[in-house]
Amino acid sequence: MCGIVGYIGKRDTQSVLIEGLKKLEYRGYDSAGIAVYTPEGLKITKSIGRLANLESKLESAPLVGSAGIGHTRWATHGKPSDVNSHPHTDRTQKFSVVHNGIVENYLELKDELISQGYTFVSETDTEVISHLVAREYDGDIVKAVQKAISHMRGAFALGVLTEYEPNKLVAVRQASPLIIGIGEGENFIGSDIPALLNYTRKVYILNDGEMAVLTPDSVELMTIEGNFISREMINVDWDEVTAEKGGFDHFMLKEIHEQPKAYRDTMRGRIDETGRKVIMPELKLTPEQIRNIRNIHVVACGTAYHAGLVGGSVIEQLVRIPVAFDVASEYRYRSPLITPETLVIVVSQSGETADTLAALREAQANGAHVLAITNVVGSSIARDANDVIATLAGPEIAVASTKAYTSQLIAFYLFALYLAEVRGTQSEAEIAHIIAAMQALPEQVESMLANTDSIKAYAEQISKHPNLFFIGRGLDYAVAQEGSLKLKEISYIHSEAYAAGELKHGTLALIEEGVPVIALVTQEAVMEKTVSNIKEVKARGGDVMALTYEEHVADMLKSVDQAFAIPKTLPMLAPAISVVPLQLLAYYASLALGHDVDKPRNLAKSVTVE
Ligand code: G6P
Repeated sequence: MCGIVGYIGKRDTQSVLIEGLKKLEYRGYDSAGIAVYTPEGLKITKSIGRLANLESKLESAPLVGSAGIGHTRWATHGKPSDVNSHPHTDRTQKFSVVHNGIVENYLELKDELISQGYTFVSETDTEVISHLVAREYDGDIVKAVQKAISHMRGAFALGVLTEYEPNKLVAVRQASPLIIGIGEGENFIGSDIPALLNYTRKVYILNDGEMAVLTPDSVELMTIEGNFISREMINVDWDEVTAEKGGFDHFMLKEIHEQPKAYRDTMRGRIDETGRKVIMPELKLTPEQIRNIRNIHVVACGTAYHAGLVGGSVIEQLVRIPVAFDVASEYRYRSPLITPETLVIVVSQSGETADTLAALREAQANGAHVLAITNVVGSSIARDANDVIATLAGPEIAVASTKAYTSQLIAFYLFALYLAEVRGTQSEAEIAHIIAAMQALPEQVESMLANTDSIKAYAEQISKHPNLFFIGRGLDYAVAQEGSLKLKEISYIHSEAYAAGELKHGTLALIEEGVPVIALVTQEAVMEKTVSNIKEVKARGGDVMALTYEEHVADMLKSVDQAFAIPKTLPMLAPAISVVPLQLLAYYASLALGHDVDKPRNLAKSVTVE
């Protein structure tokens, strides 16, 4: 999983590539590089580490030219290093390749190339591609690329440039995302839309098995077998500034603060004027199909999986359909029972997560209807799913997902209410009651975000501890899992999320004097039981902070060391509120420890490998 950009035209190619890569660093940032066709031929500069390292190398020796490709890497084959960085080249140094994905048969191809006298300098699978293209070249770069990829298995998005035909930039998409940007006298390629937004809003989205040949004045689209195709051009209306930090210190903080807007945007147009009904005109799923659903599988990775835990539970509760939950990397391998009456809901911010995409395909192959909840409408998952509910959170840049998670919750609530209405499992009055509570959420979150001082102080306190626990029951447990993940990924503090009642079955042994325990106490039906579990922790010396409603704070303080009040809502909606202080906690703890909040170590925003 990596980011690719490419440019052909009259601008300063190097700066177009660097600006594009800056927008793509969320896809990986352990090394970066560019190749530019200069008057002295094809030149490559690359560097381990963040893009800034590459920029400083280029400062003393800029690459000036009319076409180029660039790459930001998240290592899969071969550790991060200068030599393993892309672009890769062949032994004549006349060809250069950037690649996102994995060439599954690269070892086989490498052996073959070595036996033919090719030598390898890197440990990557990508270097195989540059040698293959060079080997197949016979005066036509498009044919050479087509021949090269006919030998390759796996997932790849490619940008290819050769000194022999500097007026052409070749792009290929096979199971890794790639888009083409259209300009006037210039054209672009990129792994996603924000990479190109500074320059153009007109894009073509390539499908798997398709390629593009770009010159400054033309773009030809074809299948990888060489059959020309036509495609509708998309006009992107995202405001470029929405992809910038907008006055906040970090994208993550900005995105936390954008949540009220994301809630409103995701609800907009999906609640009828009377406020008594959810409308989902985008769904192809018919009322008859909905009535026939026998079971639901919710499948996703990471934070999206945690949103699925909440969303699936709410569906089960409101609609009384059995729901099973799977992390996508496990789904295919447990032989899940999928029938045409199974609705599979895949959740993915990026819409490109390889495991989630593979789960979608498995579900479809077994006849299920797949509904995707995603934030990227042109993504692979959105395009392959039978139905899509778009979360309208806008581009999310920070690796730690925040507004995508909460807008996924909103999408789930809406869908659960829609199902409940069609299947008649909730009365109109009950649905209207829930809708009214949902409509209050944005303001409630705004009020919490207006004063974050106490959470900041608590974050500084916990940042000194090596271990901590999150506990809760029911939906509080689901949120605890997201709070724990958030803290781990950006502060690197070890934490575990436990169902409050389960702690005593072993893990309680880890509670000793001063260990911080964060208790979520919003599910009033089980509040007393959670308080009993808190007491078990207190008896072992744990230092407990409770998140609960104002009306319970005074009582709670009899059992805990600190309590934070959150605005009151319905139990099923509580996750859309209670997760916000946990996001802030992770953010401020990371900040207190001096970590790179937006780009935590070892991670990437979009994981397009299995
Ligand atoms: C990566 C990100 C996580 C994200 C997960 C699933 O691991 O770092 O924040 O939750 O992928 O991504 P998706 O785009 O499918 O929601």
